[in-house]
Amino acid sequence: MGSPIQIKKHGISTLFNRYSAEGLLKLNTEIWFVTAFIGQVIFAAYIIKLYGGASFRGDWEAWNSFMPHGYQEGRLWSNAIVFLHIFMAGVITIGGPLQLIPALRKHFPAFHRINGRIYLGVALLTSITGILINLLNKPLGSQLNANLTAFNGVLIIVFSYFVYSRAKSSMVSSHRRWGLRLFMAASGVWFFRIGLMFWLLVNSGPVGFDPETFEGPALTILNAAQFILPLAFLEMYFRVEKSGRDLPKVFYSMLLILLTLVTATGIFGASMMLWFPYF
Ligand code: HEM
Repeated sequence: MGSPIQIKKHGISTLFNRYSAEGLLKLNTEIWFVTAFIGQVIFAAYIIKLYGGASFRGDWEAWNSFMPHGYQEGRLWSNAIVFLHIFMAGVITIGGPLQLIPALRKHFPAFHRINGRIYLGVALLTSITGILINLLNKPLGSQLNANLTAFNGVLIIVFSYFVYSRAKSSMVSSHRRWGLRLFMAASGVWFFRIGLMFWLLVNSGPVGFDPETFEGPALTILNAAQFILPLAFLEMYFRVEKSGRDLPKVFYSMLLILLTLVTATGIFGASMMLWFPYF
């Protein structure tokens, strides 16, 4: 136990650290992450409730409540691939954020290793099955939009390789960076959903696309932005984190507050319009 003077000193330095540029950056990063985590848990709960519940009841028609090619009579292979895709989607949405929680990594390293292996396998399967669904069916919306999401799937596969190889070579900080890139890419379809609902909310309706055909420039931009924007913000974060100066950290912290507001609005919109109706 430290002397009262030491405790007082420690208390002041903790307070100072919390309000230093570095502390501000850490706090705002955590707030964004917790917000995103809550949104991903809601998305995963929706997947389990809608698709898991329907499978449990043997109600295959319910698979078409949202998806245009969920269940198709007589198409065994296509149905099996969609089933695997959705099952894996549920696992990846929960497993991904858990890998990023420092306390879990620190106190339960075995969990991080086991969940990490499952996560990488599931990331590969989700992407491969997603790309196969695109090849086997006419996509909803334009082919360009489907190709952009397929490219997101290719990025997930490439990033998974780097996460694994860096972990194998014990390159800790590179492994961390690739892990974060993988999380952003694997969250692409989730970003698409919250991005679309944010867009609908701020415009009070569909603008820049046709809600019937699901085509239009707004959706093409969103399909590209679902992985480009999160990855760009992440690369910016790596630079800011490394910088020895306070100003970029304070600036990025302000940006994170804005991003958290946008993320929270998108999660609210997606929960109310896409996910909660199936609960
Ligand atoms: C890795 C994270 C992914 C997750 C969590 C995920 C999740 C989902 C979910 C939940 C659905 C059902 C629609 C809904 O209820 O919202 C779905 C459908 C679909 N996913 Fe993914 N997905 C992922 C990656 C991909 C990738 C990389 C592709 C690549 C092309 C893809 C292609 C599709 C397609 C085409 C459908 C619609 C199936 C249809 O036509 O009916 N997904 N996905």
